[in-house]
Amino acid sequence: MIRTVLYQSTAKSDFHSKVDHDILETAWRHNGEMGVTGYLLRTRTQYFQVLEGEYDVLDDVVGMIRKDPRHTGMGILCDRTAKERRFANWAMGYHLVTEAERDEFDDWLKDGDDFASSLINYMLMIAGCREVASPMHPGVS
Ligand SMILES: Cc1cc2nc3c(=O)[nH]c(=O)nc-3n(C[C@H](O)[C@H](O)[C@H](O)COP(=O)(O)O)c2cc1C
Repeated sequence: MIRTVLYQSTAKSDFHSKVDHDILETAWRHNGEMGVTGYLLRTRTQYFQVLEGEYDVLDDVVGMIRKDPRHTGMGILCDRTAKERRFANWAMGYHLVTEAERDEFDDWLKDGDDFASSLINYMLMIAGCREVASPMHPGVS
């Protein structure tokens, strides 16, 4: 079984900041080694991140991310087990929800019954659009 953790936090950096690039470089380096996959969504003020991996590994990763001073107010939105990974090809995918996409994003979250599932579905939709196109995201076998 695979553990899936989804959280929300408040970014301390500006939109389009180099900080996100640094976070991703670290995530790609570590997550591949630890067998962690997932997706990071950034809005103007918030991070939403889904992480998938072994139970104990996610304890460590989530604990480490929680202490990171580049964001604050981390709140777990869901923590559950699943039969398989949903972001198997992503050591850590990333998408910046621009202000132009904001209405579509808000509508998407409003329409679903369950906020956490709607968010994950939004990430899957975006990841699906990008899977072929992006050379930036190394996969995890
Ligand atoms: C929003 C956010 C998401 C992060 N996601 C990950 C991640 O998926 N994997 C990871 O190893 N580190 C992630 N980090 C970075 C960790 O908090 C931590 O800084 C890093 O793992 C430390 O690595 P280092 O000691 O090699 O610099 C994230 C940080 C933030 C602020």
